[in-house]
Amino acid sequence: MSLERFQKLEDYPEDPIFSVYRKFEEDERKEKVNLGIGVITNEEGELYAFKCFENLLLNKNNSYLPISGDNDLKKHFAKVFLPFVPAGQVVSVQTVGGTYANYLSAKLLKKLGFGKIYFPKPTWSNHLSLFKEGGLAVEQLEYYDDDVKKISENFLLEVKNLPENSILALDVCGHNPTGVDLNSAELEEVIKIGKEKKLVYFLDAAYVGLVGESIEDDMTMVKKIYESGNPILLSFSFSKNMSLYGHRLGILSVMNFGGAGERIKSNLDYLVRSSISSASRFASDFVCQVLSDEKILNLWQEELLRIRNYLLKMRKEFSQKLQAQGIDWGREVQNQNGLFSLLPELKTEELQKNFGIYIPPNGRVNVSGLKESNLDVVVKAIVESSL
Ligand SMILES: Cc1ncc(COP(=O)(O)O)c(C=O)c1O
Repeated sequence: MSLERFQKLEDYPEDPIFSVYRKFEEDERKEKVNLGIGVITNEEGELYAFKCFENLLLNKNNSYLPISGDNDLKKHFAKVFLPFVPAGQVVSVQTVGGTYANYLSAKLLKKLGFGKIYFPKPTWSNHLSLFKEGGLAVEQLEYYDDDVKKISENFLLEVKNLPENSILALDVCGHNPTGVDLNSAELEEVIKIGKEKKLVYFLDAAYVGLVGESIEDDMTMVKKIYESGNPILLSFSFSKNMSLYGHRLGILSVMNFGGAGERIKSNLDYLVRSSISSASRFASDFVCQVLSDEKILNLWQEELLRIRNYLLKMRKEFSQKLQAQGIDWGREVQNQNGLFSLLPELKTEELQKNFGIYIPPNGRVNVSGLKESNLDVVVKAIVESSL
């Protein structure tokens, strides 16, 4: 009976990050604090609004974009983020946030005949489902050592042990969920092994502009791997660095494709057409204005740097206040980068129930939710909940 199929349908648990976000929204306590979903907020806890975007006009044109997105957007994207790639050496497609760039990458890798991808452990939880649903098996390499809250000593060894022609996934900067990136010596070592093993890279860039001192800093991994000559699929998101979240804009760029650019392009067009038909316009018109106007582009980068410096300042204060309370596991928070730190020691249920502080069960803290106004309250709650 066909109804049985409906009744026996697999039941999936609610997404851990969106579930915490929903509960936060439903909580009526005034003093609640959102340290969960990866968004950047202002002092009042509302989504950050870029001052440099205040006078941008919204385009009223609602005609369809080409299947793979706005050519001007892609041109300006390459100029700003991939200046080290000669013209014609990158194939890009506009995507629905960084998430769809991830999904399209999985689909393209599948079409290229790959069966498996290696992600760091831990990784953004959605990576695992996206690539599984895209048709690839997913394995994880020991990336992070929670005892010392740094890169695991085993990581390079595990990369060394990968079979030839494997796909290695890395976060470009501000690793989600740990805030711990490879240092330059570790990156050089990965690249060296990558050349020997002919690795293909899936690089996920969701936090560019929010980690180092400049876009150039944050794109270092992409530049160095590009120069090594190995194939790259780069997923880029504008959600956090332009505060566009719900407008959903990202880009997938493929590089070092050995002269197969036209085929890559036709495959990506086919994959987009057979899933979402064509790219969406609203956010791409907006981002195109930012990237094509030198004055706004500069102001945007200055504002990003101010946000990044504020995140670092809050990390330092948070870390020092935890240590002052004898909480030693907070020490490394000040040496990490980007939006997140992973603190599994936190009693997330108690913090939520007794103090209205929302953190996903794995203890991934969004540092952007910490403010001068709530820091003492948060630290006090952490101390009381761990007694
Ligand atoms: C590592 C990583 N990749 C991709 C994404 C997806 O971003 P978007 O919201 O643009 O789809 C995120 C968002 O949290 C992320 O953390």
